[in-house]
Amino acid sequence: MAFPTSRHRRLRNNQAIRNLVRENQVTVHDLIYPLFVTEGIGIKNEIPSMPGVYHFSLDQLEAEIAEISELGIQSIILFGVPDDKDDVGTQAYDEQGIVQRATRLVKQTNPNLLVMADTCLCQFMDHGHCGIVNKAKNGNDAVIENDSSLELLVKTAVSQAKAGADVIAPSNMMDGFVAAIRSGLDEAGFEHIPIMSYAVKYSSAFYGPFRDAAHSSPQFGDRKTYQMDPANVREGIREAESDVIEGADILMVKPGMAYMDIILSLKQNFDLPIAAYNVSAEYSMIKAAAEKGWIDEKAVVMELLVSFKRAGADMILTYFAKDVAKWLP
Ligand code: PBG
Repeated sequence: MAFPTSRHRRLRNNQAIRNLVRENQVTVHDLIYPLFVTEGIGIKNEIPSMPGVYHFSLDQLEAEIAEISELGIQSIILFGVPDDKDDVGTQAYDEQGIVQRATRLVKQTNPNLLVMADTCLCQFMDHGHCGIVNKAKNGNDAVIENDSSLELLVKTAVSQAKAGADVIAPSNMMDGFVAAIRSGLDEAGFEHIPIMSYAVKYSSAFYGPFRDAAHSSPQFGDRKTYQMDPANVREGIREAESDVIEGADILMVKPGMAYMDIILSLKQNFDLPIAAYNVSAEYSMIKAAAEKGWIDEKAVVMELLVSFKRAGADMILTYFAKDVAKWLP
C-alpha cells in the first residue's frame, strides 16, 4: 500500500501547533474604524442598511470616542454628513465644517487617537459628484472637471490638516490628486502629514449603503468617468504607480472583499503599506445573513479580515472594528 509522502496534517494536530505555524494575524492595531459625523444636537441615529453603525452629532461623539479608545482601537476615519450642500462643496473646506469640528473635538478628547480625514467632495456637493460639474461642456452629458476639482480638494485637505487630522485620505479619484495635495500640504507647513491615497478605487455597487449613510449618491449619471472599471487590474497598477510617483505614503484598495487580487498585485508591485477598505455592502451583507441566522458572524468576519492580511493588506478599514476589538483575545 502506498502511503502519503507529505503529511501536512502533522502541523494541524492541536491548537498550539496551529498557532505556531500561523502565517497571518489580525490585531486591533490593524483596524481603522469609519465614523459618520453630522450637524445638529442629540443625534445618534442608526443607519438602517448598516445595523450597529450610527450618525453622530458632535455632542454624542465624545462617548463614542471614549468607547473606541477603551477597546484599544487606535485609528478612525471621519466622514462628514453636512446639512448644507452647494456646487462648489464649500462645507468640505470650511473651518467650521463638520469634519473640521469633529477632528478638533476628537483630538481634544483623545490626542492619541489617530484621525484620518476622508478627503472628498461628494457629500458636500448638491449634485453628489466628487468634483466640479460642468454641464455645458459636453452637450447633455455633464463633465466632472479634473483640474478645477483638484483646487477644492487641496483646500479641503489643508483645512483638515489645520483642524488636526493626522492622515489625509483623498478618495475623489481625480488625476493628480496626490501631487496636488502633497504640495498644498507642504506649502501650508504640513510636510509631516502622510497621504493615504484611495489609489485603486473601483466604481462599485458595494458602496450602496454608504451612499445612503452619507447622503452622497450622485443626483445624475454615475462615477464611471473617475472611478475604475471592476473588470480591470493592470489599470489599477497604473493608478497606484502614479500615486507612488506623486508621493503617496499608503496605497488603498477599495472595495476589499471582491478585490483581494488587486491587494495582492499592489503588494507585489510596490513597497508602500497597503490598506484594504472593507466597504459598506460587505458589512451589510454579513450583518443581514447573520441576523437571519444563516452564518456565524464572528467566524465569517474573522476569516474575512485575516484573508485581507493574507492577500497583503497591512491595515483594514472596517465597520466591524469595534466588534473585532471585542472578539480578539
Ligand atoms: C466618497 C466615498 C465613498 C466611500 C468612501 N468614500 C462612496 C463613493 O465613492 O461613492 C464608500 C465607502 C463604503 O461603501 O463603505 N467618495
